[in-house]
Amino acid sequence: MYTDRIRYRPLLGKVVSPEEAAGLIRDGMTVGMSGFTRAGDAKVVPLALARRARREPLRITLMTGASVGDDVDSTLTRAGVIARRLPFQSDPALREAINRGEVMFVDQHLSETVEQLRSRQLPPIDVAVIEAVAITEEGGIIPTTSVGNSASFAILADRVIVEINLAQPPELEGIHDIYIPTRRPYREPIPIVRPEDRIGLPYIPVEPAKIAAVVISEKQDSTSTIHAPDEATAAIAGHLVDFFQHEVRHGRMGESLMPLQAGIGTVANATLHGFLDSPFHDLVMYSEVLQDAVFELLDEGRMRFASASSITLSPGWYATVIGRIGRYKERLVLRPQEISNHPEVVRRLGVIAINAALEADIYGNVNSTHVNGSFMMNGIGGSGDFARNAFLSIFVTRSTAKGGALSRIVPMVTHVDQTEHDVDVIVTEQGLADLRGLAPRERAPQIIEHCAHPAYRDLLREYFQEALRRGGHTPHVLEEALGWHVRAMATGSMLPATGSPVAGGRPAAGGA
Ligand code: COA
Repeated sequence: MYTDRIRYRPLLGKVVSPEEAAGLIRDGMTVGMSGFTRAGDAKVVPLALARRARREPLRITLMTGASVGDDVDSTLTRAGVIARRLPFQSDPALREAINRGEVMFVDQHLSETVEQLRSRQLPPIDVAVIEAVAITEEGGIIPTTSVGNSASFAILADRVIVEINLAQPPELEGIHDIYIPTRRPYREPIPIVRPEDRIGLPYIPVEPAKIAAVVISEKQDSTSTIHAPDEATAAIAGHLVDFFQHEVRHGRMGESLMPLQAGIGTVANATLHGFLDSPFHDLVMYSEVLQDAVFELLDEGRMRFASASSITLSPGWYATVIGRIGRYKERLVLRPQEISNHPEVVRRLGVIAINAALEADIYGNVNSTHVNGSFMMNGIGGSGDFARNAFLSIFVTRSTAKGGALSRIVPMVTHVDQTEHDVDVIVTEQGLADLRGLAPRERAPQIIEHCAHPAYRDLLREYFQEALRRGGHTPHVLEEALGWHVRAMATGSMLPATGSPVAGGRPAAGGA
């Protein structure tokens, strides 16, 4: 019963329909909604907002933690509600609207949004819409499967709408650790010295008078769309396991490694899955999202503890994990994303960051966001928060895309999210390039020989040799540096029509 979940009794009188609650949001407002990588998102108020937008002009700035569930961003986009969106998205309809220039997307490091809100560098939040499992006796909001930016949105907003979700199990209570950094210039160190440290409250403290409406929902989280590990992703995981064993042999870490962060997506999940078949034990995560493989590792007793900001699972794992979430409580904590991704904590703990790339260049610059330098894919997410501050910053990618027509190792990336200075290791199914301590002229042969698909290796070698003739610290042939992308836009393939190393001008699928 929802009445059991609203333990601050005066709020029982504020239970309204989603339409009534959505009525608090007016044209031109800035709205902060819960949701991080599809988990714990506000679900019924945004859809009511979209219905209203079909009858009257309604455009808002929408902030969330990260991506939200299947129907939220796409329904709001189709209804024309979103004028401005930050800090991350991964929705096909929204992506198209962004790339048509209809939605202004601000692609931010995920740890930074609430810092900028708090210091009034972004417009203030008018209304926060937060999914909750319950409201405490004091009016505190207990989030569900993510914390994301919800705590700061609720604390900073003028008014708060709470979506009590009856489909989310009450056992989620106690899993969250809500800590908000103190104000500058008197900010104190964030007191996390081990991933399992709890430093805050199990609920979001808000002034109950600010809670303007409570709605009831029963919609489950959208599940993730990651694919099962395949030959290529298994090879990537294998190279990484070998590399970590090498690091252990050289005394740079023990067999429980260092706290792990793994990005969202198929490749990152498959990489962790590969640890099931490794000598490592007592692993810990200090990450922003926990995908299927983390629960496999917890169940197998290989992982000791996991800290993150959200739980995002495939359909198969969702029912199992959410159904018995109480069992994981002692080994899990969900934090605000500014804490899960905080540079101070990431650097202190010595996190091993494993993120995915769209493409990397021969010197190790990584593009995670823009196809052909222009078209937004998802956003930088937390990859930069972790990569720059990591003990070891690793990028994983298949060596090709689109059936082998595109090489993901290119002469020059068309957009730089992670500079070569933030990239220690690149891994593809072909192999692993350890770039630590190498100058650009030394990095290029490592990446070409170990990471590029064989169909593209000669072309990359030729490019690099010509670049060396031109000279420089980071040699390039500027008139050709982006030529591979230009060719692919014209012909569909990065390979030249003639002289292709693969019959028919198309490389074999090779791992893509
Ligand atoms: N050019 C054009 N398209 C490309 C491409 C390239 N160089 N490289 C990949 N793609 C396409 C793939 O073909 C695929 O599209 P499809 O499904 O239509 O075939 C899609 O991009 C995803 O590629 P995939 O190899 O499946 O990668 P992934 O699921 O591991 O995701 C990123 C890779 C980079 C898109 C993803 O990790 C991301 O959004 N990263 C940024 C955010 C982040 O790192 N957060 C970290 C903390 S959660």
